[in-house]
Amino acid sequence: MILYFTGTGNSKFAADVLAEELHEQTISLNEVMKKGESVTVESDRPIVIVSPVYAWRLPCVVEEQIRKIKFSGDRDIYFVVTMASDFGACEKYCRKLCEKRWFAFKGFCGVRMPGNYVVHDKMPAENAAEQILKAAVPVLKEIAAHIAAGEMITCPSGGMKNAFKSGPVNRAFNKFKNKVDFIISETDCISCGQCESNCPVNNITIERGRPVFGTNCIQCFSCIHRCPTEAIDIKGKTEKNGRYVCPEYLDFKSKMVKTRSR
Ligand SMILES: Cc1cc2nc3c(=O)[nH]c(=O)nc-3n(C[C@H](O)[C@H](O)[C@H](O)COP(=O)(O)O)c2cc1C
Repeated sequence: MILYFTGTGNSKFAADVLAEELHEQTISLNEVMKKGESVTVESDRPIVIVSPVYAWRLPCVVEEQIRKIKFSGDRDIYFVVTMASDFGACEKYCRKLCEKRWFAFKGFCGVRMPGNYVVHDKMPAENAAEQILKAAVPVLKEIAAHIAAGEMITCPSGGMKNAFKSGPVNRAFNKFKNKVDFIISETDCISCGQCESNCPVNNITIERGRPVFGTNCIQCFSCIHRCPTEAIDIKGKTEKNGRYVCPEYLDFKSKMVKTRSR
């Protein structure tokens, strides 16, 4: 069983490629979070968690879901993270999570994908993003082959620098992640409500036709990237950085890789 979380579609893309290779089903953690239901996952094959890296670790909401979901059956678990460049010491924290939930840690791997940290970076041009996604497909297929063979996957990431990024820096990120100064363009907002329905943590409500943000933001930036009129920004930070959403259909010549939105 493949469980994925995504803000802008990269991890959904990765989950879909793995699912196709492994003939597995996928579960959207976005939907699980959105509905707030308690979920039981039964699987007689290894669990595969696919998620973006946020500040060099799994997003806290993903860690939370792994702690909350009732798993029955196979206790082997793999982690496949998508990232713009580097996952720090994320593997160490995935291992710790396994110890707490009695999972047998089978592996961790980072796959490079287009970056979406719009607060800091300019978003990749369409062509550049497609090249990165195209290069990710054989990497994902190789990961799937290791999973299918039941092999351990290792992606070592020791060192002081990684420990610092995934430790104190990650803690600071999580402490301040909900302090985001969103601004809405009065002229561009069309009151479509997509930001509200795309927010995985129900942090947005539409009031008098405009999105109102709560204090629960996890910085997935789905609202910013998926707004059809680019009406949402973070004051002074995102206005000039563009937008990114993983394309839904990509023709990689050998095969059409189909991904659904969200
Ligand atoms: C809040 C936030 C933090 C991020 N932190 C990292 C990071 O530590 N290392 C990295 O390489 N990429 C980082 N990224 C980039 C994403 O992990 C990467 O683009 C990922 O593929 C996005 O996946 P998604 O489209 O499934 O949301 C970050 C993105 C966001 C929004």
